[in-house]
Amino acid sequence: MEKTFAEEVAEGLSASPKFLSSKYHYDDEGSRIFQEIMAMPEYYLTDCEMDIMKNRAIEIYEATRFKGHFNIIELGAGDGLKTKELLRNLLAVGADFTFVPIDISEEAINLLVKSMQASLPELKMNPQVGDYFEVMDKVESEDDCPNLVLFLGSNIGNFRPEWAIDILQHMNEHMRSGDKLIVGFDLMKDPNLIRAAYDDSHGITARFNLNLLNRINRELGGNFNVNKFGFYSFYNPVNGDVRSFLFSKEQQEVEITATEKSFKFEKDEMIWTELSKKYSPSGIEKLGADAGFEFNQHFVDSKGYFSDSLYSKP
Ligand code: AVI
Repeated sequence: MEKTFAEEVAEGLSASPKFLSSKYHYDDEGSRIFQEIMAMPEYYLTDCEMDIMKNRAIEIYEATRFKGHFNIIELGAGDGLKTKELLRNLLAVGADFTFVPIDISEEAINLLVKSMQASLPELKMNPQVGDYFEVMDKVESEDDCPNLVLFLGSNIGNFRPEWAIDILQHMNEHMRSGDKLIVGFDLMKDPNLIRAAYDDSHGITARFNLNLLNRINRELGGNFNVNKFGFYSFYNPVNGDVRSFLFSKEQQEVEITATEKSFKFEKDEMIWTELSKKYSPSGIEKLGADAGFEFNQHFVDSKGYFSDSLYSKP
């Protein structure tokens, strides 16, 4: 059984050091702030992946070696802006495919379908709401054409390496031999560029993290005073970890009704809120091999900052 939000918050705030899972950043307000992050000049990731989708789509298609009809299954499709570029380019060269976006949010899928229909009326779509792996099994049982699975946006970077292997291994188990997977990775690079992307001078990333406390107040009856918390983020260029934290500016105690507990904070005590891991090309290849994939090719943007890396299920 999956733990509830209240259970995870109680566990994280009782631990030493304290932590909160970054998957809880994305309520409506958090998703809005994430859109602001993606629009910041410092957050180069979105533009770089867009560059790959605009300029390397045909090479990606050729590298899959798919000939007839295939599915493009996107896990966590989001606003679909980058994927739209890939799809547009593939349609232009007459590739025969059905786009299968999967998301747990019905609202997100409905918005995506509308936006795709408006821009690409000829696109064949089979939108799905639900758990990634259940839907992958369902899609595979419906026909026997090959699948190109997309897990874009450096979402893999938000998982610790052992969990990242676990997730890719799960994908592997739900794919057929010959299916392909593209994973978006942010590459290790000039550490100053990476630090600026996660510690922006406008304070948007700080607001994104503090929203976690607001969310706990809203949904779990917490009484956090967000003004009593600060934000800190740093990049370790040796291991590729960006780690983000909130910290308590003073000694304090916070009650959270839904957990039936209160939590003490020392002055300057840290809460770890996110890992955004950066990879080297060899690290990407090793991760795929550890999860049972054969590595095919890195598709890197013109600046060399980001890679959409292609793997095959043997
Ligand atoms: C969603 N994820 C890939 C983002 C990242 O870069 O780790 C979330 C984010 N956190 C702070 N800025 C962006």
